[in-house]
Amino acid sequence: MLNLVLFEPEIPNNTGSLIRLSANMGANLHLIKPFGFEITDKRLRRAGLDYQELAKVTEYDNFAAYLAEAKPNRVFAVSSKVETNYAQMRYQSGDSFLFGPETRGLPPEILAQYPGITLPMQAHSRSLNLSNCVAIVAYEAWRQIEFIGAK
Ligand SMILES: C[S@@+](CC[C@H](N)C(=O)[O-])C[C@H]1O[C@@H](n2cnc3c(N)ncnc32)[C@H](O)[C@@H]1O
Repeated sequence: MLNLVLFEPEIPNNTGSLIRLSANMGANLHLIKPFGFEITDKRLRRAGLDYQELAKVTEYDNFAAYLAEAKPNRVFAVSSKVETNYAQMRYQSGDSFLFGPETRGLPPEILAQYPGITLPMQAHSRSLNLSNCVAIVAYEAWRQIEFIGAK
């Protein structure tokens, strides 16, 4: 299955809608602390549908803990600061997609460690909303693995 990884997410509504996305796709959602909100935040719960969907959500104290515990195979760093178009890459089941925090993006030292993919934008655009970005990448990867598990 696919792994969606949020590095230090800041906005509860984004994380909530991505809990819902992950549940609907059958993807694993990995949340790396510190968060910009409490995990019990009503805005997160509201956007995240219901508690049962939290089953595939895993929290980590920091990035090192994520690497040690999740042991990801292939990690793609998703960033507006790299060149490779996300649609040109071939994905496989088990791949992990790492997304940065809403106001800061991924730290350069983490971005440098992994192959980067980007979503094209118009010149002078700065970035997409995090949850929109995750949804676009996740559905492209799921499409490529033939929507495994879909009804
Ligand atoms: C709102 S953006 C961060 C903006 C931040 N000010 C920056 O300059 O990186 C939050 C995250 O969404 C993803 N993102 C947003 N737009 C993107 C794009 N066009 N291509 C790839 N990733 C994007 C990245 O993972 C990014 O770290």
